[in-house]
This record gives sequence, C-alpha cells and structure tokens, in this order.
Amino acid sequence: MENKTWWKESVVYQIYPRSFKDTNGDGIGDLKGITEKLDYLKDLGVDVIWLSPVYESPNDDNGYDISNYREIMKEFGTMADWDELLSHMHDRGMKLMMDLVVNHSSDEHEWFQQSRKSKDNPYRDYYIWRPGKDGKEPNNWESVFSGSAWKYDEQTDEYFLHLFSKKQPDLNWENPQVRQEVYDLMTFWLKKGIDGFRMDVINFISKVPGLPDGELQEGKKYASGAPYYMNGPRIHEFLQEMNQQVLSKYDIMTVGEMPGVTVDEAKAYTGADRNELNMVFQFEHMDLDSGPTEKWDVRPLNLLDLKQNITKWQKGLEGSGWNSLYLNNHDQPRMVSRFADDGEYWAESAKMLGTFLHMLQGTPYIYQGEEIGMTNVQFDSIDDYKDIETLNMYKEKVEAGVEPEQIMQSIYAKGRDNARTPMQWDDSENAGFTTGTPWLSVNPNYHEINAAKQVGDPNSIFTYYQQLIKLRKQHEIMVYGTYDLLLPEHPTIYAYTRILDNEKLLVVTNFSKETSLFELPKDFSYKTQELLISNYQVDGNESIEKIELKPYEARVYRLTI
Ligand code: NOJ
Repeated sequence: MENKTWWKESVVYQIYPRSFKDTNGDGIGDLKGITEKLDYLKDLGVDVIWLSPVYESPNDDNGYDISNYREIMKEFGTMADWDELLSHMHDRGMKLMMDLVVNHSSDEHEWFQQSRKSKDNPYRDYYIWRPGKDGKEPNNWESVFSGSAWKYDEQTDEYFLHLFSKKQPDLNWENPQVRQEVYDLMTFWLKKGIDGFRMDVINFISKVPGLPDGELQEGKKYASGAPYYMNGPRIHEFLQEMNQQVLSKYDIMTVGEMPGVTVDEAKAYTGADRNELNMVFQFEHMDLDSGPTEKWDVRPLNLLDLKQNITKWQKGLEGSGWNSLYLNNHDQPRMVSRFADDGEYWAESAKMLGTFLHMLQGTPYIYQGEEIGMTNVQFDSIDDYKDIETLNMYKEKVEAGVEPEQIMQSIYAKGRDNARTPMQWDDSENAGFTTGTPWLSVNPNYHEINAAKQVGDPNSIFTYYQQLIKLRKQHEIMVYGTYDLLLPEHPTIYAYTRILDNEKLLVVTNFSKETSLFELPKDFSYKTQELLISNYQVDGNESIEKIELKPYEARVYRLTI
C-alpha cells in the first residue's frame, strides 16, 4: 500500500501566466488576471496551481531566464498582486506551486553582471567560465536551443556555458555559495507561504568535471553533451542537501523536471526513503512520436509503444516512487491535436485522453486550456511565432538548406507556441484574453472552442474534467490502486485495471477513429459492475464481456472482486 499524502491525492493545474488572462490591456497575461479566474479554477475542482515563472525577467525565454528571483516581472504586476493572489488561493483551499529555475539565471541577473566583469570578481565562480580551446569553444556541446552551448565574452577573453539560450548562463552548482543562494531564495518564497516547487531541468545541475566533449554525429558541428550533464555525478548529493536544508522543513510538494530520466533514476529521485523530491516529470512518452535525433523529426505514434512505456513507468515506480501524469504543458503541443483528433471527434477524443490519464496511478497535471480541448495552431508565417527554440531551429535549418515549408510542418506538429496561444475564454475579440493586442495571436478557432461555451454544459469537455476530478475525491482506488495493463497487443485499445483491496477499476479507451472491439480476458473475474464515467451515452448494465467501442470511446467501471 502506498503512503498517503495530500500531493498524491491532488490534481494540479498549470498556468502559463503570459497567456492566461490580461487585465490591463497590454496584451500580456498578468497576476490580477489569474486572481480574477480563481473561481473558474475552483469550479473545475483543481487543488494546486503551478505557475510558470513570474519573476523579473528580460523574457528571452518567457520568464525561464530570471534576472531577480525575489521580484515579480513588471508585465505581470507587483509583489502586492502576488500576495493577493496567494491569499485568494488559500481562501479557496487551493495551493500554489512556484517554478524554480536554478540550472541557469538570466545574463541580466546581478550575479552574472558581476561575474563577467573580471576573473577575480567574487561572483566569477557563480557561473561556468572556461578559456577557449585552439581558438574555439571549450568543448563541442550543443545548446538545447541550437548552436554552441558556449558564448565568448570579450571582457575577460573566456567563454561561459549556456545549455539553453545565450541569455541563460548555467549556474555553477559546484560552488557552495551558489547552492546557499538557491536555498535562501527558496526559503524566501516558502516563508511567504507557497506550497511547493516545480524545478526546471533540475537534473542538469551537476556537470561531469572536465566537461568532456560529446560524441559528434556525422555532418554535425556540435554534439549532445547530455551524457555529461543529465543526472550528473553530484545530483543526488545536491538534492539531498537541498532537502535537508530547505524542503524537509515545510509540508510542500516538489516535482523535478527531468529530461532523459530513467525509471531507476526516478526511483532514486522520488523514493520515500531518499529525501529528495516527491515526483519527476519524465519525457519518454513525449519522445515516442519523434525520430531518433530530434523532436522536429515527426513520426506517427504507435499505441503499442505508448502502452509499453506507460506500463514500464506505472509498474516501475509502484510502491517505491510516484508518477506525475501529463500529456501536454507549455513546451509540448496540445494533446488532442497530437495524440487524438482535433477534427470530427474533437470532444470525444479530448475526453478519452483525459480519462486515460486521470485513471493512471500518479498526480495528474492539467495544462491551461486542456480542460476545454484547446488545439494546436498553424500560423501562415514564421514571423507570427515567438518561441526562441522554434525561431533558432528555423534559422539553423534554413541556413542548412531545408525547405521552409517542410520546417513549418514540424513547427505545426511540435512547436512550443502551440501551447502558448492565449487562453480562450469566450467568443469576443481575442477570445476575451485581452482588450489590447495579444503578444502571440489567438488561435482562430476560439469562436467554437472557449470556456464560456463549455462551463455549465453537461456534455462539454470542461464538465467531463470536473467529473474526473470529483471521482478522484470519491474513490481512493483512483489514487492508490495498483495498475495492470490488459490486452498488451491490441493495436487501438488501451485498457488497464487498478486494484485496491476488494475493488477494481476497469479503464477502457479507444485510441482510434475506428470502432474497436474490446473483449474481456478469459481469466478476468469480478462480482458486480458500476459505470463510473463514459464519454458516450451508454447503459451501465450492459455486459462488459464484449464492448463495441465507438471512435475514441472511453469507459471506466468500478467492479467488486
Ligand atoms: C524547461 C522549461 O519548461 C522550458 O520552457 C525552458 O525553455 C527550459 N527549461 C529552460 O529553462
């Protein structure tokens, strides 16, 4: 039996503040906008809100480049607005999880401004500086956002490391002073009353000493340095120190964003006896529809791969760690466009994916707009896109001779701006997001897809999500039941069970637009059945031995055994 905790029983809602709700007409979402929409979120039923970064930032990477960890970004409002938001959330019984971005800061942070001044500046060692090698960069690592991961700085004739943009220099965690600064700023926010941290690429903070070259692929100028910075040699030591000095003193929830993490690593990060983090965001299921080298190489998803992967994580962490459950976020395309059908079966398939996800073991995360089935967007011109990763990749590929039309297809499928178009509140101009000009255009489908149309409609995706969240509060088995896969080889149906004491949940989802026949395995026994939720009208007493599933149909039964 799993240990019981509030963060296992919670549903988290992620807000990307820039795109959520603008109240002052500057086209950029703000904190007052979030406060204004708290009743909407309470009505949805979520327990925790994760705010993507709201700190002072020059916005090279929309707030993931922080220039002051103790101030609020001007576009988003003031510290007083933030205090008000937190107190209104707590009044409603909701908790707040802040984003902690400490693998890197902004180059406009005071620490970096000092650091770049001279080699003997007290802040020099806050960042990772190296002399050039043979007139070139210190090693061959590629930045996640294209090009070299090193930038030359004339002032001291050295290079600094930036795994992300040139304006996001990596902090040097080998330096105990840096770690102390991080613990202090975490304590600053905890003392203000927050309830948790989502930690940005936290498994990148420990780099292999010597920063060895990566393995260069043929025809490439730079190599992946990932083997030398993902899950590095001191990562567990650093997280245990952080836990001991900060986290263990508060009743909070923590989730570490961890590209490249394996099940075994995740156990080490989240095991109850490890004193590190509560859960991690792993990425394996996000890579199933990509080619071997990069996410822009778009491939169709094979359902059998998804089953195999999710099952590995569900069984792998069972009783020894904890899963986070997500199918989209601010870096990923919209799930309904990516894994299901944003056309004919838009509502059915969005509900099906929600069912599939919320019935798994772990803490579910809803990304803003998912609850109303927001979709990917296709802007005509690259000039309409704002995301630094997308723009850098486009430039690099054009320079390498790839046809722009071909690049646009990858952006339509995988670009991060898919998730960042403004929240669609209603069918007024700009979807009710702003009275000004939105920083990123609104998806033109807001006349059909918007919150106002769905709240209160018994058949809407929003109402369905309300039901999913309510079920979690009523049935412990949804949180703590163990998972087992059924029909591992079925090409279109993903079915599984959850078991707790003498109860079983049977979850049956059709991932295709074809009718699919579900047949209960021969050795499957149960006494009574009760239909808990379904995305089509069905007779709950109908036999479950064989079910003709309609396109993207989803059903969950509660059985006694
Ligand atoms: C992961 C964040 O989710 C993403 O938005 C950001 O660009 C990188 N980390 C760098 O901070």
